[in-house]
Amino acid sequence: MRGLQVRVLLGAPNFHSMFIVFEGIDGTGKSTQVGLLAETLRARGREVITSKEPTDGPHGTRLRQSAETGRLSSQEELDLFHRDRKEHVETLIKPALARGAVVILDRYFFSTMAYQGIRGFDPAEIRRINEEFAPLPDLVFILELDLDTALSRIGVRDGQANEFEQRDALQKCHDVFASLDDDFIHRIDADQTPEEVHEAIVKLIPE
Ligand code: TYD
Repeated sequence: MRGLQVRVLLGAPNFHSMFIVFEGIDGTGKSTQVGLLAETLRARGREVITSKEPTDGPHGTRLRQSAETGRLSSQEELDLFHRDRKEHVETLIKPALARGAVVILDRYFFSTMAYQGIRGFDPAEIRRINEEFAPLPDLVFILELDLDTALSRIGVRDGQANEFEQRDALQKCHDVFASLDDDFIHRIDADQTPEEVHEAIVKLIPE
């Protein structure tokens, strides 16, 4: 009986882990694409874990509250993003990758480079700090959209009080994402239907 169990276990498909990250400015449809890709890879028989940053853990929750109340300093915010990510890496990302699962994230440290970059921190320094504790993804999909389309998708209209501020911030984020040139970075035109965007992404996923 024992011997049979061992053979059955050895005969199980032995998948390689895959670490996939979606990035892009607000309004590009990242969460929709995370869901579609998870469905496709599950249909291929893979174990898929989806998650997002900031997380729903205590640090991520404080960050969301701070976005509404503006109570934290930029430095406190940066520290919390790093603490949130460390916990995410240790409790979810590394264990899932170690058992051969696919991990798909909505945002990772490239967002810290972009968004905390706007707040005056050096994106290269942020990356250096993160690479000390956060594993590099196998694939990063940067969903690209022109600013007018992104702003209208997130409900910011021309001439609105915060329109200029938001446009300026998103432009700076876009510039940080545009500066990334690692082999694992893939830029995807997000100005298509969700199905078309998904198709473009699936073509880049190894079988
Ligand atoms: P977002 O993906 O828009 O989540 P939700 O739709 O739930 O609001 O992310 C929330 C915000 O957090 C977004 O504006 C980007 C910001 N952010 C940072 O400033 N730094 C980071 O490191 C991350 C991961 C996100």
